[in-house]
Amino acid sequence: MSTPSPIKHFLRDDDLTAAEQAEVLDLAAALKAAPYDSKPLAGPQTVAIIFDKPTLRTQASFVAGIAELGGHPMVVDGNLAQIGTRESIADVARVLGRQASLIVWRTHDQSRIEEMAAYAGVPVVNALTDQFHPCQTLADLLTIREHKGSTAGLTMTFLGDAACNMGHSYLLSGALAGMHVRVSGPDGFQPDPAILARAQEIAAGTGGSAQIVDDPKQAAEGADVLITDTWISMGKEAESADRAEVFRPWQLNADLLALGNDAIVMHCLPAYRGKEITADVLDGPSSVIWDEAENRRHAQKAIMQWLVTR
Ligand code: NVA
Repeated sequence: MSTPSPIKHFLRDDDLTAAEQAEVLDLAAALKAAPYDSKPLAGPQTVAIIFDKPTLRTQASFVAGIAELGGHPMVVDGNLAQIGTRESIADVARVLGRQASLIVWRTHDQSRIEEMAAYAGVPVVNALTDQFHPCQTLADLLTIREHKGSTAGLTMTFLGDAACNMGHSYLLSGALAGMHVRVSGPDGFQPDPAILARAQEIAAGTGGSAQIVDDPKQAAEGADVLITDTWISMGKEAESADRAEVFRPWQLNADLLALGNDAIVMHCLPAYRGKEITADVLDGPSSVIWDEAENRRHAQKAIMQWLVTR
């Protein structure tokens, strides 16, 4: 019987300290500048990438990034593997850990990836769970650095479903980066209080802050970065009709953008124009969404390299 391993994983944003996050972001910038200079997965080594939920950017950016690092991506269809039903998560972890140098998993509850990490014997990376999406926020911090020069001291506002993975990951990652993070969503769509408290604890050490701001206009006022995400996360499709009207005041549109401080606009995609964001804002001059999408590859290369070489 395997015992939980001491190996370092990236399961949530605060698995990195503030200094480690800065180190990984520096590495991401260096890898972006010279994409083929560093091949820590050469050998070749295999990286298992498993999807229990839909994907486009995540699969594309991991496959491309693993290739650039000299490794081989082994994409596993979660619907075929049926992890946790056909066989236990622990058994899958032990099997994949014997085939791959690293495991990347997009799945449902965070407890599933924690169990995978406990038994894999190799580093595990969270490619989105119901609670966190830390690879996206690493890419976003890289994008903010590129467009605003730095992250510390800037105000980042997330509008919409603040109870979803993106809301949680912005709270933790922004606090680590010394940012002032505001999340704003309708009643019933507020972040997990434990995650908000953890972000506030981190922010106390980095000079940032983390808070819920109920009024979307107040949340957007003076923000350097304005972010939204779909109102209907994967798995919540049944609530689609109910949410549209409740979320309307949080739509990222020209009026909210005008309240920002020359704000850049971010969205992890997929985006629904006319719902959480208007087309003129998403496709307008303040939007940096395509840089964000590209930066997934650079940020993920950096976290993979950091995990396998440390
Ligand atoms: N909150 C969204 C993020 C998609 C990248 C979802 O979970 O579907």
